[in-house]
Amino acid sequence: MTIQQLKITNFRNIASADIYPTAGVNLLVGENASGKTSILEAIYLLSMVRSFRSKKIKSLIQHATEQFTVFGSIAAESGNSYSLGVQRHQQSADTEILFRGQKPAGVAEVTAALPVQLINPDAFRLLEGSPKDRRQFLDWGVFHVEHSFIDCWKRFQRALKQRNSLLRHGRIDQLEMSLWEKELSENGEKITALREEYLTSLKPLFAELLDKFLGLDNLTLSFQRGWDKNVDLVESLFLSRTKDREQGFTQAGPQRADVRVAVNGYTAMDILSRGQQKLVVSALKLAQGALLSQARGKQCVYLIDDLPAELDKQHRKVFCEVLEKQSGQVFITGVDAEALAEGWLNPDSISWFHVEQGQVSPKPHLGSE
Ligand SMILES: Nc1ncnc2c1ncn2[C@@H]1O[C@H](COP(=O)(O)OP(=O)(O)O)[C@@H](O)[C@H]1O
Ligand SMILES: [Mg+2]
Repeated sequence: MTIQQLKITNFRNIASADIYPTAGVNLLVGENASGKTSILEAIYLLSMVRSFRSKKIKSLIQHATEQFTVFGSIAAESGNSYSLGVQRHQQSADTEILFRGQKPAGVAEVTAALPVQLINPDAFRLLEGSPKDRRQFLDWGVFHVEHSFIDCWKRFQRALKQRNSLLRHGRIDQLEMSLWEKELSENGEKITALREEYLTSLKPLFAELLDKFLGLDNLTLSFQRGWDKNVDLVESLFLSRTKDREQGFTQAGPQRADVRVAVNGYTAMDILSRGQQKLVVSALKLAQGALLSQARGKQCVYLIDDLPAELDKQHRKVFCEVLEKQSGQVFITGVDAEALAEGWLNPDSISWFHVEQGQVSPKPHLGSE
């Protein structure tokens, strides 16, 4: 997927912007608070219909205006182009989406059409955050590669909710409980198999990238499915009914899965430097994009907020080379144009944009000024 045109209206500090990014690397340069992250946020919004900065989507509406609109013209790998618009009005209860001129069945349809990977300071959560952060990472990948996942996921969530609500009832209807446990475990086992399979496919791509970035060959990813290794999910649920009732919720299952990232047996986050962590996290995200391209022939859009931060010159260079060689579209922000200009193999193919007080304009290449 490539964003050919991006039009932003009344979004954060951007009153109006209309840019035509290149299919390769796009660099957004500007001072602090000029609106760089807001542009990445607008692209992320097109894919996820939410922000990575605010829970409240209304906070994205430019102050003293009524509504924001983000519009993208997207080129698919098939050669077709389509339009995608996301709009939110102050007074409205919903965010409106228009995909190929129509209201989509759900957000998942839009997300599937425009896979976006974000590498920003929050991406460290993949290592230092909770298992939920790692499950979200894993499930992003499974969702985009395996189309049966979303249905299993919805059914699983519904059954989990039902079981949790039954656990809090005074008297449990054993038959109803068994039925929900059956539904929960059937879908839970499928989700788990898909996650395991996905991680197995991801590992070699991740290892290759990590080798380029760091040469940390003793770093391992291991999947923990969320319940006792020795029993099926249905059995585990049955055996833990009493304990779960005491707690009032289902304690074991895929909703507790995790991916452990370790170096020589130690949790990665405890021993790696900040720069190393950034590269591990970036390798994980780039590997997801590479796998999507390999498995589905779809390209990912990468949003990289402040590339130079935490990286020395040598590692920035490797990072730039990897970004240039992979096939997805890339948007990178930075404060310092010179730091951003370094390290590219093919600087002439890069598009520059200057961001200043919410205005975005194409900028001549550094060096050609
Ligand atoms: N809803 C809003 N309306 C107007 N301005 C906003 C809104 N939300 C945030 N801002 C302002 O937008 C500016 C741009 O922020 P940001 O995109 O984070 O800049 P950068 O990434 O370039 O440092 C900030 O000064 C922020 O205060
Ligand atoms: Mg920023």
